[in-house]
Order: sequence, then C-alpha cells, then structure tokens
Amino acid sequence: MSSLNANDGWTVTQNGFDPEGNRVFESLFSLGNGHFGGRGNHEEAYSGDSLPGNYLAGVFYPDPTRVGWWKNGYPDYFAKVLNAADWKPIHISVDGEPLDLATATIVSFERVLHMRTGELTRSFRATLPNGVTVDVEALRFVSIVRRHLGAIRYRITPVDADVSLEVSAQVNGDVVNQDSNYDEGFWDEVSRSVSEARGHVVLRTKKTAFECATAMAYEVRRNGQRLPITSRVEEAERFVASTIDVDAAAGQTIEITKYGANATSREMPADEIVGCCDAQLDAALATGFDELQAEHRAAWEHRWDISDVVIGGDPAAQQGIRFNIFQLNATFTGDDPDLNIGPKGFTGEKYGGVTYWDTEAFCLPFYLATSEPEVSKNLLNYRHRQLGRAIENAGKLGFTNGAALYPMVTINGEECHNEWEITFEEIHRNGAIAFAIFNYIRHTGDEHHLLDGGLEVLIAISRFWAQRVSFSEPKQAWVILGVTGPNEYENNVDNNWYTNVMARWTLRYTAEAISRARELDPQRAQAIVEGVALDEDAELDRWNTIAEGIHLPEDPERGVFLQQGNYLDKELLTVDDLDPAERPIHQHWSWDRILRSCYIKQADVLQGLLVFEDEYDLDTIRRNFDFYEPRTVHESSLSPSVHAVLAVRLGRLDKAHEMMLRTARLDLDDVNADTDEGCHITSMAGTWIAAVHGFGGMRVVDGELHLDPVLAPGWTSLGFQAQYRRAWFSVTATRTSLTIENRSDTTRPVWIGSTRQMVGAHDTVRVERSARPVD
Ligand code: BGC
Repeated sequence: MSSLNANDGWTVTQNGFDPEGNRVFESLFSLGNGHFGGRGNHEEAYSGDSLPGNYLAGVFYPDPTRVGWWKNGYPDYFAKVLNAADWKPIHISVDGEPLDLATATIVSFERVLHMRTGELTRSFRATLPNGVTVDVEALRFVSIVRRHLGAIRYRITPVDADVSLEVSAQVNGDVVNQDSNYDEGFWDEVSRSVSEARGHVVLRTKKTAFECATAMAYEVRRNGQRLPITSRVEEAERFVASTIDVDAAAGQTIEITKYGANATSREMPADEIVGCCDAQLDAALATGFDELQAEHRAAWEHRWDISDVVIGGDPAAQQGIRFNIFQLNATFTGDDPDLNIGPKGFTGEKYGGVTYWDTEAFCLPFYLATSEPEVSKNLLNYRHRQLGRAIENAGKLGFTNGAALYPMVTINGEECHNEWEITFEEIHRNGAIAFAIFNYIRHTGDEHHLLDGGLEVLIAISRFWAQRVSFSEPKQAWVILGVTGPNEYENNVDNNWYTNVMARWTLRYTAEAISRARELDPQRAQAIVEGVALDEDAELDRWNTIAEGIHLPEDPERGVFLQQGNYLDKELLTVDDLDPAERPIHQHWSWDRILRSCYIKQADVLQGLLVFEDEYDLDTIRRNFDFYEPRTVHESSLSPSVHAVLAVRLGRLDKAHEMMLRTARLDLDDVNADTDEGCHITSMAGTWIAAVHGFGGMRVVDGELHLDPVLAPGWTSLGFQAQYRRAWFSVTATRTSLTIENRSDTTRPVWIGSTRQMVGAHDTVRVERSARPVD
C-alpha cells in the first residue's frame, strides 16, 4: 500500500498510485453528509479494480434471503442500502485517448482526505498511451450544509503539448451491488433527461419503490473564462452524458466545475424530487463553487469545534481518532428519525447499511457528548417508531402480551438477518436498546423521554425478558437458555452472564421508570400503562421475582463471572497459545472448532462490566479482565475499545494504548485486511469512547460532569469536547495540569477525580495536577 502520512493530524494522504490497494483507499477516502455519500472512486473512467459506491441514506432493497437450510422464523429478505446512481463521473479524452489511470503511466499521484474541511483532493501527472502528459487537480466535497448537494472542481492542464480535450460529464445509474444474493438489478428507470450542461436520471428501486433523482450541472472555464457549452448529449438506459470539446494549449488549465444533486421519495413526494434537484443545482450555480466550499468548510469547522479530540505526542493516535470522528460526523447527523448508522456508513456495501445493536452500545455515547440532545433522541425515536414491528417480531417467535424483540439487523423495523444463532439468539440487543434510554436520560436530563416513548419500549422489552426466562428446578433460579452473547464465537449457550445481567437491569429499571413517569405526569403515565394493558401488580411482581432470582454464573474460586454456565469446561488456553499463522481464527479454523474453543471474538463479560462499571469494584474488574483479556482475539472491530476503557481504569496504560490504537487505526492500517469492503464506522465510536471515557475519564453521574484524565505512555496532552445537558465543555489534560473551559451560559459543577469544583459560565479553570497514580 502507499504510505498514509501520519505526521499531520488533519489529513490522510495516499502518496503514490497503488492499483492493488485501490479499494482500501476508496473506502478511506469516502465522503458523506448523513444523507448521501460514497466511496472515493475516481472521477475519470477507471478500468482497474474498483468498488464503485454511492449510497442514499435509507434507500434500500429487500434482497431475498439466501441460506443453505431454511429455518422457520427466518425473515424473507436482507435489507440492503443500494449502490445508487453516480453523480461524479467526468470522463476525459485527450486527443482522442481516454484518460484512464489504469492505462496511463503515472508520473506522480497524491490523494488527500482533508478532515478539517471535509474535502477530498487528488493531484497527479500522467502520461497517456498516446504520449501526452497532463496534470490533474481535483477537489470534491459532499456538502454538510446542503444535504442534497455535492461539488467537484476538476482542473486539467496539458504539460507540454497543445491538445484537444473531450470532457464528458455524466450521471451513471447503470450500477449494481457487488453484494447481491441473486445477482439481480435493483433499479428501474423512471425517466431521464439531458440537454446542454444539465442532466438527470430518475430511478425506482424494485419492490420498495423508492424513487431517486440524481442530477448534474456543470461549467467549463479556460483561463478563468467561462466557455459556452455547446455539448453533444448521450443517453442510454439509466445513463446520461453531456460532452464538450475544448482546446487547451500547453500549460493552459481547463477547469470543470460539476455539481451533483440527489433527492429521494423517502424524503418528499416522488413528483418533487426532480424539482428539488433542479432547485439545488440552480442555487449551486448561482452561489458558485467558492462560496459553497466556504460554507461547507465553516460547517465542518463547527463540527470539529464541538467534537474534536486532540492527542499530543502520538501522531498515529491523533490521525486515527480524527479519522474516526470525521467518518462519524459524515455518517449521521441526527435530523431524521428514520435514519440510523450502518456499520459501514457510506463507505461500502457490507452489512447492508442497516442498523445493529452497535448504534446503542457504541455510537450513542459519541453523539450524546458531541451533539445537541435532539441528535441522540432521534436514535431513540428510531427504535420507538419501530416498536410495533419489534412486537410482531417477538410474536413470530411465540411471545405474547406485547413483548418486543428488536431485530438484530434492520432498516424498517423488520428483522432481516438469517442465521439462527444471531437472529433468534443474540437477544442481548434488547438490553442495549433498553439501556440506551437510561443512558440518554442520564446524559441529557430529558426524563420526559419516558413519556415520549421510552416507557413503552421498556415495558415491551421487559415483557420479552419475563417470557424468555425459565425457572430451573436444580438451580432454583431463573435461567435464559439457548443464547448467543456479544461473543459470537459461542452459540446456543445457557446463561450468558452479559445477557442475564442486561435482562435483570431492564426489569428493575422499567419498574423504576414507571414510578418516575407517574411522578412526572401522572395522567400521561397512566395513559401509557393503560395503553399497553399493563397488569401492574402481577407483571411488576413477576419482573421483580425474576430480577431477584436470575442466575448469574460465576466461579467463586477465580472470582470471575462466567461468560456462560459451561465456559470453564472448555480448555482454557490463551491467545499466546495460538499459532500466529492461524489468526484471525475465523479465516483459518472451522466454525465447529471455533465454537468449541475458549477464544472470544469480542468483549462479552467485559462489555457488561463496562456498562455497569459503578456496580463492581476494581478488584472484580481486574480479576475478570485478567481472565478474559488473554482469551480475546478481538476479531470484531467493536472489541478493543471496551478493553481499552477497562484497562485505563485498571491503570494498564500500555494495554489501553495498544487497544485504543488498534481501534483508532483499524481502517487506516487495514488491521483486519477488510477495509477494501468499507470502513468500520460503528467501531469508530468505540475509539471515541476509549479516548474520552477511557483516557479522559469522562462520565455524567447524577447530572454532573466527572473528569479523571490520564495520559497514555508517550502522550503529552489529551483534549476533548464534552457536552451534557446543553452545557459545552472543552477539556485539556497535560501531565501536570487540567484545564476546563465552560463554554456555556451557566455555572456548572465539575468533578475532577473526587473533588467537586464550580466552573463559572464562560470561565476557564486550570488545576495543577500530577498524572493520576495508577496501580
Ligand atoms: C459483531 C457484532 C456486530 C456486527 C456489526 C459483528 O462482527 O460480532 O457484534 O453487531 O459485526 O458491526
């Protein structure tokens, strides 16, 4: 792979052309604005290896299920956010020779993601097969101000010959998904139009009937002078192009400014989408590239102002965390309750762009602390709006009385995953969705969320747990049989500690939440309880009995919780016993061997200890960490961040740093050799958790901000932004001091370690503080 320059914390730079690594770079150079986005494909025609990818948030196709052996209860389809029409192509011929980086001789090549400004640039010098050498400079952004708009400024200069250029601006809807179960086309054309320097295609998804317009407009300048566009137009099914001929003398730059607009019937009536695109393009042409760029840059500046993490003394960590925050901000903006966060965001097809427990367990804390509460609330509203489907889903599995089982994988509320051990068994996701309600309220103070849907979700999930348990006579305890915990390297186990702890917590919290809702608004609370026909005495009594008597397996001798009842029957090897050539084990071992082994894909008991960290003392955390960490292979990208936070708490700063770097640079260094498929967006939120909750020691407890920063070896400083209850704080820790800036209009208490201190509105407090002692 070409080098990724880590010296500048604000850029990711590819130096040198690298056709083999192209898909990885396309993933890394993806851009998005929460509503649409796509991979860093070249604007020119490219005949080398590439994964074209343009995605419109929420526009999906139900790809019929393909499994070897059907099991009753499987959903009929897997929802996929589709590869959509591409607004970017600018195809160039020079004296009749196509400019194609796969056939040209590349003299120099640089591709840079400018994270500060949300821009992608490429500059290269290439000699075409006909001997003509050209310089190209391209700059692209997907506007975070105008959610429908993208813009490209493309400059081409013949180096030492006078040439005739053919410039073809295109919208290409003739696209497929690489990941398609039956190699079907997913799009039908509704209409297309092209004339002079404008064109669009309107496509409709098969089955789901989303109509999507993708449109373009462009201008061409020579020596800064706009040229009249007398173009040839070309049309084909799902494709339009407008082509002009331009002469360029040696050294003379031809500049093409292209705007692309996307609009979908998911957001507005289908008969308005073309008009919306046209209006966006008219406004873009009237505003001009420079001003559009300036407003986009200002918006990114603001995003960074409220979400940046600054790490001194560790360029690799700095670049990694910024890349992660950049992608999180490009993926989800929280202004639409029907949208969520796909594990690959707008960077690839894998995981179908749909919603997993990753959202509540990993992403929510990032958006809670770096956005206004409305953004996180929309993540909660998403689940509330899908409650009916979650109840139906549980109904299909035989549960009654309004019990809800949220899907493991969904886009519209229906389950769409088809592996029995995940679909039916990974029920712990219900726990994460319930806990997210508590987490949101704890952070924002918005207790009324209970009345706005939170209570209904909690009651339905508690009803599920109350039916999913069974009573074990031998154990004289409530048990949950046949589950898969977060560790997907064990299936159909009994009494996964994490699942049982989440169930117990939900049952207790739901009862508390009902009382609290009654205090807040007795009438509305009563209406909710009646609305779901809660038999308060009987159901709460059962919930309480289960919570008191649920089986939580542990090994008193080792003083550890057991991942599942029979975990100790396994041969207790450690990761050091593995042959490095056999890692990752999921690529080398049979599934059967993995399931029988003690190796853990991702944090499981440790995930639970993180969620409920206040309930366990450090010795308990230490014993469990020392038992499970050596057995964890971290083959899910979600895993290292959890271990990082606990390692910080235990003062294992080397370990914490190793884990933090692993998650922060997972894609930049292609650690799992799968970045070609897209970036790991949801685990990027884990990186932020590792940095801010882990090293920063940031928590919101009883409505007050707690900080307890500690620096990783080699770090000279750690700075981060923390918002809670609409108060914004900027925190900077060095080895000897802690500076806290209260950027809000009210005085707020802040806990620094165990000391409570008031910080005045717009005041900055600096405390001399030696590095926190660690054990
Ligand atoms: C992990 C799951 C996760 C999914 C999507 C899997 O590899 O084991 O916990 O939900 O990826 O990120």
